[in-house]
Amino acid sequence: MSTDLIPPHGGELINRLATAEEKKDFLAKADSLPKVKLDKRATSDLVMIAIGGFSPIRGFMGKDDYIGVVEKMRLANGLPWSVPVTLSVTEEEAEPLTVGSLVRLDNPDGKFIGVLELTEKYTYDKKHEAINVYRTEEDAHPGVKVVYEQGAVNLAGPVWLLDREDHPQFPKYQIDPAASRALFQERGWKTVVGFQTRNPIHRAHEYIIKCALEIVDGLFLHPLVGATKSDDIPADVRMRCYEIMMENYFPQDRVILAINPSAMRYAGPREAIFHALIRKNYGCTHFIVGRDHAGVGDYYGTYDAQEIFGEFTAEEMGITPLKFEHAFYCTRTEQMATAKTSPADKDERIHLSGTKVRAMLREGKTPPPQFSRPKVAEELARAMKAV
Ligand code: ADX
Repeated sequence: MSTDLIPPHGGELINRLATAEEKKDFLAKADSLPKVKLDKRATSDLVMIAIGGFSPIRGFMGKDDYIGVVEKMRLANGLPWSVPVTLSVTEEEAEPLTVGSLVRLDNPDGKFIGVLELTEKYTYDKKHEAINVYRTEEDAHPGVKVVYEQGAVNLAGPVWLLDREDHPQFPKYQIDPAASRALFQERGWKTVVGFQTRNPIHRAHEYIIKCALEIVDGLFLHPLVGATKSDDIPADVRMRCYEIMMENYFPQDRVILAINPSAMRYAGPREAIFHALIRKNYGCTHFIVGRDHAGVGDYYGTYDAQEIFGEFTAEEMGITPLKFEHAFYCTRTEQMATAKTSPADKDERIHLSGTKVRAMLREGKTPPPQFSRPKVAEELARAMKAV
């Protein structure tokens, strides 16, 4: 690997894919191992750990890491980390599992996909996690709801993933951290900006992406396709919108579209740090943080997700946040803008959020061109009519 690339978080790109030998051994033991069924989020987390997306994490967090992350946003070794990566089961499920033994991990369909070497079992305080990580204890928050509904015991220890299977819907866009790093190098990119998104691409996204693209070598367009809340637009529809953008409105030699298999937590500021560290592992040097990044409802202030970067030094983060103000369509200058670039009065600013557009689509309306590229708007309207 060239010295030009940004090092992964913690210095080493983790690979927890079972070797052929290990896989053979695990398969031979498959029927004798105690079993834990993973939910969608834990399945994504297992994959992210295995492919190095969560480097330096090698498994589900033990108590020291968990407490450090929840209370101080740091792993036990002091490295920044903002969101717990835990495997929670009920007390009944945890009871027969012996520390020191191997546990078979099945996906939600009951397929054997991984192994955990159980090093620890511990109980934890859900409210404490909710308040610290999500800044609220309300179960109306979708991330908090997941914490409240999960089991009372965390199982910890290193994991192995048996196979890195192709993504069932988007195999072409499955570019894991080792591969994205190789691609950036192949293209000669020294600076790469990562873009996290869970919404259909709109003009404000395009504006901040393109502003960022003016100052770096390449863009890693990295939509999240893991579990999202039920009223978010489905990943296949969103991917078609990104494809339309790639085909028509982005310079293809400067943009790589790839999927991020993680699940959304909606932890706002904490998740912005998490999202940035993940993109650092994929090889990005910069990361876009706009308004209310990874937020939900009005749990977070518009720029909380930008301010939280001030709690870490640039050296320990490694990846540089590119912070953008709330972008809108400006009727006076007839272009996308922010308060930094346009003198427009309030009534000359067209603000359209993902939430408003989802509401329009549900009513059968097509988003206006100030919000979406018409080809994207058509695709969204068509897809949402078919639901
Ligand atoms: S997120 O949950 O993945 O953050 P979304 O896909 O809506 O949601 O946003 C992706 C990125 O674009 C985030 O960094 C977000 O802050 C930013 N963003 C979205 N809309 C705007 C906007 N109107 N102005 C500035 N930044 C925005």
